[in-house]
Amino acid sequence: MTVESTLSRYSEGFDPPVRGDTITAERYISKDWMELENRNLWSRVWHLGGVLAELEEEGDFIRHNFAKESVVMVRQADGSIKAFYNTCPHRGNRLVLGDVGGAPRLTCGYHGWQFDPDGTLVHVQDPEDFPGGNPCGKVRLAELRCETWGPFVFWCMDPQAKPLLEWLAPYPERLAGYGLDNWVRVMNLSADCDFNWKIIRDNFNESYHLPTIHPELSTFINDGLPDTLFEMYDSGHNAMWMKGHQATTRQDFASGEVPAPLDAIASSWGVDPAAYKGRTHEIRAAVIEAKRRLGPERGFANYAHMTDQQLVDYFHCTMFPNLTLTMSPEQCQILRTEPHPTDPEKCVFQHWVLVPQVAGMTEVETPIGVVPLRHAEHVHSVYGDGVSLGFVADQDLSIGTSQQQGLNSRGFKGCILSNQEKRVQRFHELLDDMVHARI
Ligand code: FES
Ligand SMILES: [Fe+2]
Repeated sequence: MTVESTLSRYSEGFDPPVRGDTITAERYISKDWMELENRNLWSRVWHLGGVLAELEEEGDFIRHNFAKESVVMVRQADGSIKAFYNTCPHRGNRLVLGDVGGAPRLTCGYHGWQFDPDGTLVHVQDPEDFPGGNPCGKVRLAELRCETWGPFVFWCMDPQAKPLLEWLAPYPERLAGYGLDNWVRVMNLSADCDFNWKIIRDNFNESYHLPTIHPELSTFINDGLPDTLFEMYDSGHNAMWMKGHQATTRQDFASGEVPAPLDAIASSWGVDPAAYKGRTHEIRAAVIEAKRRLGPERGFANYAHMTDQQLVDYFHCTMFPNLTLTMSPEQCQILRTEPHPTDPEKCVFQHWVLVPQVAGMTEVETPIGVVPLRHAEHVHSVYGDGVSLGFVADQDLSIGTSQQQGLNSRGFKGCILSNQEKRVQRFHELLDDMVHARI
């Protein structure tokens, strides 16, 4: 074993071998690759479509535009959710044009065909003018699979894919302690970006960029390799446990004063930072103790079900192929890139924040500042137009365009990855096997 390989820590049993295939630029820039992804990747995985909170009553619907596809999820009379391709069976017009809505029937804007929430055609103009008679009751919207996990609704085009909870494994079990079910989406942002969707996917599959792209996190999140734990699961998903409430061990933050913002956060839990001068790294344990003691009376009912690690650390879950959940006890961040309908060098970036409902709390801190603790409207922008997508996400996105440009150079021969970027390597090997229909 080399000295380097001992720096990165992988949990025992969660460190599958990789082949070491060269990751060239083709998959980031070529239309052929994009077509292969459309055919063999996106059609076979579960997609997060939205949140259940937007589907309160029968007939409520949410729409998820994905590349050239569009899917509508609709609340049914029995409380279940069905998903349909967003296309009118008459002559193919898109049925639903808004993000979210509710109506007793879905009505096509072209010739006015109407469908019940269960997808059955119930009204057409001139019903007796069709060969075979009135199509009502016979024609249905094309349905896809639709399942839920916690506060989320997912859809899938593949009848052969595993059931959602199996596909998500091991996260439903690993994240159960957070009690995500009734969390509220208080931030719902998206933006058009000028880079391939995998650029940010790769970024989320490594923490090698933290010291350079996110230097201000160093006093609050310990990205030191001896303290960070990586895991790669059979399902193809990856994870990283990173200690929070602790400064990085890459620099000496331990022997002096407790740095900001750790000092203020410690104070907010009744832990006096002055008492920890010279032993900053011990704050994390003190905050665990304080959260256990004070959490219930401050309304954090979910703390009781969390492990010590969950109370203070960051669990960064990168699900294959394109969904990231970053968990802290007070915040679930969803970060995702989705392909552009036609251009491999563009994508849509999405950033949601969900928070637990805490008695008496009316507003909450998010990556874009303090917002009301209630369901947020969707805000879409173009990256670079000055609308923040969260300050850490802005930093990640800031490299996207220049990396896309660099990948287009004849001089780029393929990635040279460190051991701690093994999750990037594994992601690309799985992706390559899938798009070429080898798995
Ligand atoms: S295309 Fe929808 S009613 Fe004609
Ligand atoms: Fe980052």
